[in-house]
Amino acid sequence: MQAIVMTETGGPDVLVAREVGEPRPGAGQVVIRAEAVPVLYPETKIRAGTFPAPAPLPEVFGFQAAGTVIDIGAGVDRGLLGARVVASTSGFGSYAELVAADADSVTVIPAELTIEHAAAIQMPGSVALTLMRTAAVAAGDTVLVEAAATGVGSCLTQLCAAAGVRVIGTAGGEQKARLARDNGAHEVLDHTAPDWADRLTDLLADGTVDVVFDSIGGDSLTPLLDLITPLRGRILSYGWLAGAPAQLGATDLILRGLTLTGCAGTAWLGEVARQQSAALTATAQGLLTPAIDSILPLADAARAHRMLEDRMAFGTVLLRP
Ligand SMILES: NC(=O)c1ccc[n+]([C@@H]2O[C@H](COP(=O)([O-])OP(=O)(O)OC[C@H]3O[C@@H](n4cnc5c(N)ncnc54)[C@H](OP(=O)(O)O)[C@@H]3O)[C@@H](O)[C@H]2O)c1
Repeated sequence: MQAIVMTETGGPDVLVAREVGEPRPGAGQVVIRAEAVPVLYPETKIRAGTFPAPAPLPEVFGFQAAGTVIDIGAGVDRGLLGARVVASTSGFGSYAELVAADADSVTVIPAELTIEHAAAIQMPGSVALTLMRTAAVAAGDTVLVEAAATGVGSCLTQLCAAAGVRVIGTAGGEQKARLARDNGAHEVLDHTAPDWADRLTDLLADGTVDVVFDSIGGDSLTPLLDLITPLRGRILSYGWLAGAPAQLGATDLILRGLTLTGCAGTAWLGEVARQQSAALTATAQGLLTPAIDSILPLADAARAHRMLEDRMAFGTVLLRP
């Protein structure tokens, strides 16, 4: 079968299309004929060797796929054969025509959803639902969604808007700002402008932000600290697009009565996995709408990674084996 092999860590060109052996399902596993493989932002960091948790070099790259179950291993419910599912691998193997995954990681796609929409919502929808639960966003809150035109940011914006909160988003440039507004952001700031924190001050007048969904990290939060509601403000740190997690110290938080919740790591991802079914249901019900930038042939995996890194994607990039 055709698959994308990662030859070493490095630039997008380390992702190479090759013929490899077909996977066989182990006990408790399924094999899926993949029809849509989402390209995930954290995968670009793993490929580049800059992800905080180092990963072993996978033979076949990739974490998630959507398609049809064509084979099952011992102990797996035979009812899954022929089902349309999304699945997560344990760290490798999804950029391929056939994908082996633990049956526990599989979620059946509701009849109303296309395989492409299910693939595109699987990660961002589950992460956004988990962030919303963790933040306990309440009607009347003011929420800052950093990078509101990303996959996760778009879902957060949609969920916050539906929850009746004031959503201030950030995005890079006018086209991404439009996407954020289409998702329900009431106001959008350009996070590529060096003084965007000043623009937030102007926007808030004397008000404050109750919840910050922080995906940029680095030093971006430092100028925002005095704009967050004292004693009640919560920061959820789930990404580091700037290259490092939020650079905040305990003193920064304690003196203002703010909480910072780390939203990464194994336990967090367990919570995210438990929201997978809810994310598909929310999409089938129209509460979440995935944005798909493009569907590329599997062999174009390197090009897909380049699009994400160059910030050229307006929605999820899918690979079609
Ligand atoms: N903790 C978790 O469970 C979890 C799970 C999935 C993803 N994440 C994190 O969530 C964040 C968004 O992921 P995603 O998959 O939703 O992203 P995505 O849809 O691939 O969007 C990437 C976008 O990020 C924006 N961006 C801002 N600063 C950037 C920078 N310095 N370099 C490159 N892009 C930058 C760009 O949009 P603009 O042009 O608007 O700047 C770019 O188009 C990432 O940090 C990712 O690692 C966390």
